[in-house]
Amino acid sequence: MVIDTLSNILTNVANNIGYSEHLRVIKSNRPDLCDYQCDGVFNLSKLYHKSPIVIGEEIVSEINKIDDFDNYFKSVEFCKPGFINITLSNKFINDCLIKMDTNFKFNLKMPSRVLTYVVDYGGPNIAKPLHVGHMRPAIVGESIKRIIDYVGHKTISDVHLGDIGLPIGEVIYAIKRDNLTTSDITLEYLNKVYPMMSALIKEDEEIKAECASIIKDVQEKKNYLDYWKKICDVSSSDIKRLYKYLDVSFDYWLGESDAYDYIPKVKEYLISKDLLKESNGAKVVFINKETDKVNYPPLIFEKSNGAYLYESSDLGTIYQRMEDFNPDYILYITDARQGLHFEQVFRVCELSGMTKDTKLIHLPHGTINGIDGKPYKTRSGETPKLDDLFKEVKSIFISKKESNKNMSEEDINIIVNSILKFADLQNGRDKDYIFDINKFSDTQGKTGPYILYTYLRMNKIIEKFDSNINNLSNNIYNNYDRQLRVGLLDFEEFLMSAFREFKPSYIADYIYNICVSMNSFYQNNHIANLKDLEKLNDWISVIKIANKIIKEMLNLLIIDIPTEM
Ligand code: ARG
Repeated sequence: MVIDTLSNILTNVANNIGYSEHLRVIKSNRPDLCDYQCDGVFNLSKLYHKSPIVIGEEIVSEINKIDDFDNYFKSVEFCKPGFINITLSNKFINDCLIKMDTNFKFNLKMPSRVLTYVVDYGGPNIAKPLHVGHMRPAIVGESIKRIIDYVGHKTISDVHLGDIGLPIGEVIYAIKRDNLTTSDITLEYLNKVYPMMSALIKEDEEIKAECASIIKDVQEKKNYLDYWKKICDVSSSDIKRLYKYLDVSFDYWLGESDAYDYIPKVKEYLISKDLLKESNGAKVVFINKETDKVNYPPLIFEKSNGAYLYESSDLGTIYQRMEDFNPDYILYITDARQGLHFEQVFRVCELSGMTKDTKLIHLPHGTINGIDGKPYKTRSGETPKLDDLFKEVKSIFISKKESNKNMSEEDINIIVNSILKFADLQNGRDKDYIFDINKFSDTQGKTGPYILYTYLRMNKIIEKFDSNINNLSNNIYNNYDRQLRVGLLDFEEFLMSAFREFKPSYIADYIYNICVSMNSFYQNNHIANLKDLEKLNDWISVIKIANKIIKEMLNLLIIDIPTEM
C-alpha cells in the first residue's frame, strides 16, 4: 500500500517532466535520515545521459510543488549522489493506519487471479518414530501454506507419507520372524523393532534383500497387506497426535502408496514420449541437457526386478495431482539433501510435458543443530524423539521463573509451541540454525516468549481503556510513537516478501520489529496516568491495531496466544 502509493506519485511526477520510466520506492536503509527512499535516478541518468544530480533535483523540486504534498510527505529531499529521501507526513501515516484497521486483512490487496498451490510437506516415513528432524518440514510447510492462503490464493496440502518403503519391509520381516499377529503391532513394538532392524540390515545383505522382496510384494498388493495396513494405522495415528500438538494439519493424508495406482499411467505416458530407456536391466529416463555443466544421473523409473522407487512414486503423485487438482504450483518442502531427487523428477516432467504450465518448486530447508553446530542430539547423544524434545523445552521454560510453575497446562503448551516455532521460522528457511533451548525460551531477545509477553502486556492496557481509531488525531507525539506507527506500515511489504520467497522469516522479523518498538514506546510513554484524552485515544488505538496485526501474523507462524504469562 505505502510503497505502491509513493512509487506512483514519484513516477507520475517524473513522467510529467519527460522521464517515462517507473520509479520504485523502497524502505529506507538509513532510517535515521528518512522513512523511504528511491534510487531510480541512477537508472534515469543512464537512459537520458544526464547527471543524476540534475535529474534528482528536478524531480524533487516538482514533487515539492504538488497540491496534496502534505497528505503524503513531511519532506522529500535529494541526497547526492542520486537518492531521493522521503519522510512521511503524520497525516499519511495515520490515514494508512486507519485504512489498515478498517479494511479486510489490514488493507491487503487481494490477487486478481486466485492460483492453486499444492503444498507437500511433513513427509514422515511410517514405522519410524518422529524425531527432531521431522519438525522442520512440518512447521515450515504449515507456515508457508498459511501465508499463501492469507494472501488470497488457494492451497491444497498433502502430507505425502512415506508408507511403502524399505522400513516397512524391515518391520514386516521382524513380525514374521517373531511369529506375531497384527494385534501385536503396537507403537511400542514399532519404536523398538525399527532401530533394531535398521542396524541388522546394515550388516546382513541377505536380510536386506528379503526385506526388499517383502515390500515389493506389498507394492504389488500380493502379500502382507494386513500387516502393512496395521503398521500404517498405528504409526499414522501417532504422527497425527504429534502434528496436532504442533497444530499442523493437512487436507489430504495421502502417501507414496496412493501413487502406485498412477505409476502405470506414467509409464505408458513416458513410453508414448519415447523417454523410457533400458539401462542395465532397469527402465530409466535420461535427463541431461546440452547446456548442463554437471552430469545428472538418469532417473531410475523401474528397477531390474520390476520394483518402483521413490522417484516413480513422486511421478505417480504428480500425475494424480495434475488429474485431480490441475494446480498452478506444486511446492515441496523437504530437507536440502533431496535436491537431486527433485531435480530429476522435475526434469522428467518438463521433458515429457506431463505438467504443462504447472510450476514445480523444491523449497529446501536447513538442519536443526545443537550448540556444537552438529545435528541436534540429546545429552546422551541420541537424536531426540519429538515427545522428548517437547518435554525438554517445557521443563526448561518452567525452570526459568517460579511463577511459570503455576501456569495452566494449556498455556504452557502454547508457549512450548511458540519457543519451537519462533526459533525455527525466524531463521531463513534454507539455513541451518542452532537450537539453543535456553536462549529461545527466554522472555528477552528474539524469541516466542518475548513476543507473547509483549502482546499480553499491551493487551492488559488496551483492555483498560476505550478507544476509537476513527478519532485518531493528526498528531504523532514523539519518536518512539512515530517508530511504532511507521513500523506497522511495513506489513504488506514483509508479508508479500514472505509469500514471494516462501520464507516465513520475514513475518517473524516484522513481528519482532513491532514488539521492539512497542516495548520502547511503552517504556518511554506513561500511558496509564495520561490526562490528555486525545493522546490516550491515539495511543490506545495504535497499540490496539499493533496487537491485532501481531495476533494474525503469529497465526501464520502457527503460534497461539496464551491467556497469561
Ligand atoms: N518421505 C520423504 C522423506 O522422508 C519426504 C517426502 C517429501 N515429499 C515428496 N513428495 N517426495 O525423505
